[in-house]
Amino acid sequence: MKKIVIAIDGFSSCGKSTLAKQLAKELNYVFVDSGAMYRAITLYFLRHNVDLKNEAIVENNLKNISLSFVFNEAEGKSDMYLNGENVEKKIREMEVSNNVSEVSIIKAVREFAVAQQQKMGEQKGIVMDGRDIGTTVFPNAELKIFVTADADVRTQRRFLEIKDKQQNISLEEIKENLLKRDRIDSTRQISPLRQADDAIVLNNSFLTREQQLNIALNWAKEKMQ
Ligand code: DC
Repeated sequence: MKKIVIAIDGFSSCGKSTLAKQLAKELNYVFVDSGAMYRAITLYFLRHNVDLKNEAIVENNLKNISLSFVFNEAEGKSDMYLNGENVEKKIREMEVSNNVSEVSIIKAVREFAVAQQQKMGEQKGIVMDGRDIGTTVFPNAELKIFVTADADVRTQRRFLEIKDKQQNISLEEIKENLLKRDRIDSTRQISPLRQADDAIVLNNSFLTREQQLNIALNWAKEKMQ
């Protein structure tokens, strides 16, 4: 079977990373959560009070950022490292979620992240999830999946994911953040979130993780023939 590139895009919190991670495990492929890279850049900018409106300052700060993924045996996935520090937990906090879309709009930020993502896919055998993977990062990916789910289902999933870490968070706050990010992500000028013309839509509102995985796995195996 030939090695392929699998691009998974879709709205916030609709299970893209879960699906990408499961697919990568089944196929023995590399899994890359591209959103983690934008989140780590956002964390760095927040920590250094970077003025997002100042292009030169943004570019200078990007020069000080080194991103890497390090495999975490216990989790069965890679953790995001920012300049050698494991920031996997920090980048999932609300402060980063509330600022990441504004950072992801910036041209220099996108060029910085996309160049690294494309390098990771050179050998194929990769599953990457994000917003512009099938359109900008890997326009020639053999399999493109566009994942969608009902906004209330997504809010509930995100709530369950973060409620232990952030106990004072409400469903309304989460839904507001998701919808705001979706709006900014799909209306930005550079690489907005949109379904690639050759992407297959997967609405997982009423699918279990196993059902969703089986559907995607069958698509992948067809493309790998
Ligand atoms: O997948 P996520 O929710 O962790 O992504 C966080 C943010 O990063 C998302 O709201 C927009 C941005 N992002 C992006 O612009 N392009 C990608 N390929 C992945 C994420």
